[in-house]
Amino acid sequence: MASNGSAHAAPAGHADEYKNHLFPPNSASQGAHVSSREQYDEMYKRSITDPDSFWGEIAESFYWKKRWQSPVRRFNFDVRKGPVKIEWFVGAETNLSYNCLDRHVEAGHGDRVAFYWEGNDLNEDSKITYSQLLKQVCQLANYLKSIGVKRGSDVTIYMPMVPELPAAMLACARIGAVHSVVFGGFSAESLAGRILDSKPSIVITASAVKRGAKPIDLKGIVDTAVKRVQAQGHSIKTVLVFDHVLAAKRENVAFTEGLDVWWQDVVPRQPTDCPVEWMGAEEPLFKLYTSGSTGKPKGVEHTLAGYMIGASTTFKYVFDHRAEDIYWCTADCGWITGHSYVAYGPMVNGATQVLFEGVPTYPDAGRAWDIVDKYKVTLLYTAPTAIRALQSFGDSFVTKYSRKSLRILGTVGEPINPEAWKWYHEVVGEGRCPIVDTWWQTETGAHMITPLPGATTLKPGSATLPFFGVEPAVLNEKGEEQEGECEGYLVIKKAWPSSMRTLSGDHERFETTYFKVYPGYYFTGDGCRRDKDGYYWLIGRVDDVINVSGHRIGTAEVEGALTQHPQCAEAAVVPMEHPIKGQGIYAYVTLMVGTEYPPPASLKKELIATVREEIGPIATPDVIHWAPGLPKTRSGKIMRRILRKIASKEEDQLGDTSTLADPSVVQTLLKMRGQ
Ligand code: WTA
Repeated sequence: MASNGSAHAAPAGHADEYKNHLFPPNSASQGAHVSSREQYDEMYKRSITDPDSFWGEIAESFYWKKRWQSPVRRFNFDVRKGPVKIEWFVGAETNLSYNCLDRHVEAGHGDRVAFYWEGNDLNEDSKITYSQLLKQVCQLANYLKSIGVKRGSDVTIYMPMVPELPAAMLACARIGAVHSVVFGGFSAESLAGRILDSKPSIVITASAVKRGAKPIDLKGIVDTAVKRVQAQGHSIKTVLVFDHVLAAKRENVAFTEGLDVWWQDVVPRQPTDCPVEWMGAEEPLFKLYTSGSTGKPKGVEHTLAGYMIGASTTFKYVFDHRAEDIYWCTADCGWITGHSYVAYGPMVNGATQVLFEGVPTYPDAGRAWDIVDKYKVTLLYTAPTAIRALQSFGDSFVTKYSRKSLRILGTVGEPINPEAWKWYHEVVGEGRCPIVDTWWQTETGAHMITPLPGATTLKPGSATLPFFGVEPAVLNEKGEEQEGECEGYLVIKKAWPSSMRTLSGDHERFETTYFKVYPGYYFTGDGCRRDKDGYYWLIGRVDDVINVSGHRIGTAEVEGALTQHPQCAEAAVVPMEHPIKGQGIYAYVTLMVGTEYPPPASLKKELIATVREEIGPIATPDVIHWAPGLPKTRSGKIMRRILRKIASKEEDQLGDTSTLADPSVVQTLLKMRGQ
């Protein structure tokens, strides 16, 4: 592998060759928390051989009401030996809201800005300091207590990116309530499903939000969801509505007396102090629903202490965070990235953040860089899909802003392609800023494979090396661990602090999905390659999960949504390559018996509308391909391999089709392309 020798110089040639260039840490990372490869190696080794002292030392800098017992970690990953169980810091008591807020205020940092809020429209902004946020969190916590929310209660949050969203999460954490944040882009049906699963008595929302030029009636969506939930026998007692005056006029918002309550009418009246509930290390902190390869979304459960340590330690080291940094993560709090790297990791570290409500292309494609200059952002964390989208508008939107404050650039959500890496590095960061490509999952709670900017030589497209305490392995088809350079299934061998603990109400599904595939290991669902230097290159999901713009969509979910349409008899969904989204959704649809193919063009629109209604706009199919028949084995199993090949126009590589119950369906499918 060729090295370009000098730090962060731009190699010439095609972007694909870029993968072969090395980018050693440069002077921008001088004085980093971990400032050499030797230091990383030494710390990593200790984290694996002596987790007790390694994590124990790290935990010293947090506030504990009660200390943990030794050992710091107890776990069983092997289903053959008994139920899967993961525990960290057993016996300890702490509170995450206290560690995020009170601790900083008590240390004299109350005047530090917690959030610079940048609204959807230009010139809409505000800021909130740590001490102001603490007061607001206390007021909301007191209100929640006043309506009966207590330790262990579930709370659903469906809000736009306003500071009140992380405040609501922190208020739950303060009193030991378990939050379930649902991304504000999900439909009423999806919201209802998540509410029905966790059964809260309260939903916290906002009147509306504008995303770009588009107003979104959040309250209307909640109303529909609440009605659906009620029809299924679960009653919501309170809908707390943040009056987002910039997005909607109060008089235009539907309001049900006795159910709906305006945030501004009740929260500011509450006392500004609220004692924290000291929680056990292994008590649940939150649930977050994520798509799997089968069935309905799974409620991933994280518990308090290990998650706190995992999210905040990775934040500190991966972004090399320092007190003077201005950090901006573009993820919504409705995703795990917004939990670990907006609400919790940065707050535990006392970071100053930018919270942006809008989209980076509104009012034009320079908005992101305008925000970087406005707040002098030093650490930027975003997704390859956003990078590709901004890249497609051309460099001039970037170069007209200074961006000289930028120090480190981060990416998450999907493998970053060399073209996007190159553009992010050369154009956005002017070759000066290391790129931390962070691989992790909702289930892992925190970064797992990632560079550390002062220590790791970067290879574009590789998430590089494991974080402290993470022991990855690569398995072959037979489940055997491979040595050295190899390609296969990525698994993790031992528990890390922020491991998920279970799936909400379904420990059996938890064990089946993650621990029974390869007994003894946590199965990630990702394929990967390890090179001769031990670097990991993520390849993508090996299960039936599609990664659309860095968001997980289960093929089964989209198929289920399509079949809700009365004319759809059967559907099969596969991923397709997409230039901006990374992966798109390609849906084969079989219509009810007796329908002529192709049906009227309007049916495609109707099917798409059904999916948007059932799941949300993120699950919109990119292609609908009429399928008078689907390629099935004699036992009735759909052969998705064939569908993937047709979707990617590789029908010359269909392979063996002789096992199909009816091989002629393939020719019919090919004829239907573009109809
Ligand atoms: C993918 C998002 C390659 C991967 C934090 C994983 C990535 C899934 C990367 C989890 C990355 C995330 N490189 N692939 N840097 N980051 N992924 O749960 O397939 O929304 O399994 O968590 O995203 O998605 P999730």
